[in-house]
Amino acid sequence: MTASNIAEIAGPEALGRVTFLDGHGELPMLEISTAWSTAAIYLNGAHVTHFKRKDEPPLLFLSQCSRFAEGHAIRGGIPVIFPWFGPREGLAQHGYARLKSWDLKEFAPAPDGSVSVRFRLPDCPEASAFPPYTADYVVTVNQSLTLQLIITNRSKDAEFTFENCLHTYFEVADVTAISIHGLKGASYLDKVASFLEKTETSDTLRIASEVDRTYQNTTGTVEIRDPRLGRRIRIEKQGSASTVVWNPWIAKSRQMPDFGDEEYERMICIESGNVGSDSVSLPPGGSSTLTVKLSSETLA
Ligand code: BG6
Repeated sequence: MTASNIAEIAGPEALGRVTFLDGHGELPMLEISTAWSTAAIYLNGAHVTHFKRKDEPPLLFLSQCSRFAEGHAIRGGIPVIFPWFGPREGLAQHGYARLKSWDLKEFAPAPDGSVSVRFRLPDCPEASAFPPYTADYVVTVNQSLTLQLIITNRSKDAEFTFENCLHTYFEVADVTAISIHGLKGASYLDKVASFLEKTETSDTLRIASEVDRTYQNTTGTVEIRDPRLGRRIRIEKQGSASTVVWNPWIAKSRQMPDFGDEEYERMICIESGNVGSDSVSLPPGGSSTLTVKLSSETLA
């Protein structure tokens, strides 16, 4: 796609705020620039790999060892997980949405300086296992980053049950120095303890070992406080009942070919979606939207 194609889709006002280019691995990507921030989105997975406010370090972690190749998930940024989360026998972990090249449908530069981009997951052989659906993803860039995953069940008679998750990797200065707030009282499945069901008793979650937890019935805002970067990140969400917290720590990092051995120190995944017992069932013609707004401010 070229600049003139962008103008056709978006109108000439998008040019200058959106640039279409070849990213790593020569994969097509968009660079977005607003008065407050920059962002990068690959069509492969409709994957946001970068968001940075002008006066701050990057918000999203991206591994130096990530693969960039069609049909492979990018390690870092925001993988879009759909229509299932986690392993599924004989099938790709975390669904196929993050492995496909999404269609770019629309740009909407707004008078207030925001830029929104809408993608659609194209039809693919794997989708035949489900009722017909559309999956749209709208990314809005301004002072903050807002992500909307809109799933519509196009079937006339079948229910569509799926899981979704925006598997966001946040950049932190030192994972052992951060605290995560907003999950107190929630029950969670602890994957590193054989999926034992536990309850979060503290409002200050700290990371000092491998963490892989699915918090259920968690609809409120989650906050990351990073004293070393002097930053507070807010994760506000709608249409999401699950929150996954993941850090691979030392041994898992070494096992992952597309992740540096020490990179676990600089990232934390706080993932917003609907997984496991929180999965979504849409009646024929029904639609659901998962919205996540990521913002940041100086930590007082
Ligand atoms: C998390 C899961 O969401 O994703 C972890 O809870 C998993 O169990 C992690 O290891 C990374 O998955 P992947 O497929 O991107 O390596």
